[in-house]
This record gives sequence, C-alpha cells and structure tokens, in this order.
Amino acid sequence: MQYRKFGKTNIEVSTLGFGCMRFPCIPDGNINEEEAIKQLRTAIDNGVNYLDTAYVYHNGKSEVVLGKALKDGYREKVYIADKLPTWSAHVYEDFEKLLDKQLERLQVEFIDFYLIHALNKGSFEKVKDLGIYKFIDKALMDGKIKHIGFSFHDNIETFKTIVDDYNWEFCQIQLNYMDEFNQAGLEGLYYAAAKDLAVIIMEPLLGGKLANIPPEPIKELWDLSEKKRTPAEWALTWLWDKPEVTVILSGMNSMEQLTENINIAGTIKPNSLSKEEKELINKVKIKYTELTKVGCTGCNYCVDCPKGINIPNIFSIYNEAYMYNALNTCSTHYTNSIKKENNASACIECKKCEKICPQVLNITQHLKDAHRELTSI
Ligand SMILES: NC(=O)c1ccc[n+]([C@@H]2O[C@H](COP(=O)([O-])OP(=O)(O)OC[C@H]3O[C@@H](n4cnc5c(N)ncnc54)[C@H](OP(=O)(O)O)[C@@H]3O)[C@@H](O)[C@H]2O)c1
Repeated sequence: MQYRKFGKTNIEVSTLGFGCMRFPCIPDGNINEEEAIKQLRTAIDNGVNYLDTAYVYHNGKSEVVLGKALKDGYREKVYIADKLPTWSAHVYEDFEKLLDKQLERLQVEFIDFYLIHALNKGSFEKVKDLGIYKFIDKALMDGKIKHIGFSFHDNIETFKTIVDDYNWEFCQIQLNYMDEFNQAGLEGLYYAAAKDLAVIIMEPLLGGKLANIPPEPIKELWDLSEKKRTPAEWALTWLWDKPEVTVILSGMNSMEQLTENINIAGTIKPNSLSKEEKELINKVKIKYTELTKVGCTGCNYCVDCPKGINIPNIFSIYNEAYMYNALNTCSTHYTNSIKKENNASACIECKKCEKICPQVLNITQHLKDAHRELTSI
C-alpha cells in the first residue's frame, strides 16, 4: 500500500480508502456482517487505514458493522471518517445528539475525520444558521472529533464559497474521468489542494459503471494501449496520477474488487501516466459521451411537466444504460426510484417541454423509447 500526507497534518493515510456505503448484503437487503467484517479486516491487514462511513449508510447499520470490525485491536490501526447528516438536524442540539449516536454505534471514543455530509448551497446556509461552526469547535474541544471537513454535491462556485468560509482541513468530492467538469470537478481538486486541504475522492468508478465490461467501441480504444489495464484500473490510475488527490474511496463489496484495488493502489504513484495514455483516456471519455442515446444536457428547462415527469433524470438513466453497458442496474434504478405516475409512460404528449427545449429534442418519442427499453428486462 502507498500513503500520502493528509493536508497540513503529519498524518500518513493509505491512498486507497474503504467506502462503507456498499457493503455486501444478504437477499433481504441487510448487511452480510461476516463477509463485510472479513473484507474490512483484509483491507486493514493489507495497509488500508482510511475507512469512510456515514450516519445514513445501510440505514445506520454501516457504522455498527464498522464498529464491530474494529474490535480486537483493529481500531488502533485505522482512521475513521464519518459524516453528520445535515438533513436530520433541525435545531442546534440535534448536531450533538447525532454525533453522540454515531460514537455509540461505532463504539469508539472519537472520530478521526468528521465531515458535514453532502453539502450544497441550501444545506450549507441551513447548517450555518443552526450554528454548525459553534458545534464543530465544541466537538473538537471535547475531543469527540479530531479533524473537520465536508463532502460536497453542487457546482464549483458553491464549492469555493464553502472552502473559503471556514478553516476546513479536508474536503470530499465526486471525481472520475467522466466528471472532470461536473460538480467540484478537477478545478475543485486543484482549488482545495492549493489551500493545503486534503482531498478525498468519492465515486471514482462512477458507482461502478466505469468498471463494467465496456461497450465494444470503448473496448477497442483501451485495446490500443500498449500497457493493458482493466477498466477499473484505468479509472483509478487517472486519479492517483494526480498528486493533489489524497485518498480514493471505493465502495468495494467483493474480495475480488478489494484485491484488485489494493494491487493497483500499491503500484500507482503521482505523474505515472504517459501523455499518450492521458490522450487515450480523453478519447474514451469522448466516445462514452457519443454513446448517449439522447443529447439532453440536463438544463432543466422542462422541469414543470404537467405530469411531474423529471425528463432530464429519465434521460440520464437511459443514457447511462447504454454508455456503461448498465441496462440491468439502470432499469432497476428507473423502476425503483421513479413513481409509476411520474415515469416516462405517464407522458400525455402535450409537447410543452419540446416548445422550450434548447436542444430541440423529440422528447415525447425519446420518453417512449426510454420507457420501452428500461422496462424491457
Ligand atoms: N456524499 C458523500 O459523502 C458520498 C457520496 C458517494 C460516495 N461516498 C463515499 O465514497 C465511497 C466511494 O464511492 P462509490 O462507492 O460510489 O465508489 P465507486 O468505486 O465509484 O463504486 C463502487 C462500485 O464499483 C464497483 N467496483 C469497485 N471496485 C471494483 C473493481 N476493482 N472492479 C470492478 N468493480 C468494482 C462495485 O460495483 P458492483 O457492486 O456493481 O460490482 C462497487 O459497488 C462510498 O462507498 C462512500 O463511502 C460518499
């Protein structure tokens, strides 16, 4: 395993972090505790010392299972990262109750790295109004948390505002070679690193989609490379190639994924990608974008559909199904995350959306195709 310095601290953290959001589960949806604990301890025995959980993961069970895995002397070998669920706080006192609950679930005295979870413009203003900085200062003073940061899901402007608003030690952003200009993106990585913040990466494989067996046109591009890598390896290498990246979190849920990611982490140093390899990854990124079915940019002009259909969301699920060979997962997501009365089949073809669509898309036809194909398996 390789290690990188954590921002302004002298702490050395493993470049691979264990994301505890996608533990292996049993058919009823509960965590397969035995297997999860085995995977966590295998990771730690192989040098992983950064473990990322949150209050909401696995309906609160992720923290409990992590706490169990850290018995028998494992706690002393690692740094725990945990996150405050901003949406569950309505008064100042909620912050303290939530943190105490997390310490209880984890069965630990303190949390090494504490994050304000999934901040965006609205939630940031809300927690500031509730006194988040007073809470952080008190929790640091009480020794319940050792270092403070935030995770983030909004645009670059909001990211810079939050970074500049407080003496944060680290931040956590979504980044992979398809999200270079999405959310905080590469600009956010460089902005935070330039201020000596440690930067933790989430969704390095776009939730697994970049690790899927790629569609043929993508495979043909990867095959051009002299150095042969797996799809997951290309995605993780693109990130570890950047010295500004401190830790990459991967939500691993099988020993195979764990073993592969540990092996890759052990070999990739900053600035290890050649110019040709970077150009190839860029070609792959462009090709993926060309594989989209609908040229929807997600501008959201069409959001007030009379049937409450979230058209950009449906098109992004539809596009990802074909871009990433992920028809199965995208169909499940389409069926489980969208109510019947708001899915694409609810379209009454009033064409209100088409009149304002800047891309002049044939939305009614695309919605028919999306529903047919996302419910075809
Ligand atoms: N707002 C936030 O703070 C926030 C948001 C998102 C994530 N996170 C944290 O960041 C962590 C990482 O994000 P993520 O879980 O989305 O990471 P990710 O690495 O992008 O996706 C994880 C998925 O990738 C697949 N995978 C991983 N390694 C693989 C390999 N070597 N080969 C093939 N497939 C592989 C698995 O998918 P299959 O199961 O399909 O095989 C796994 O479930 C999370 O676990 C969580 O701790 C935080």
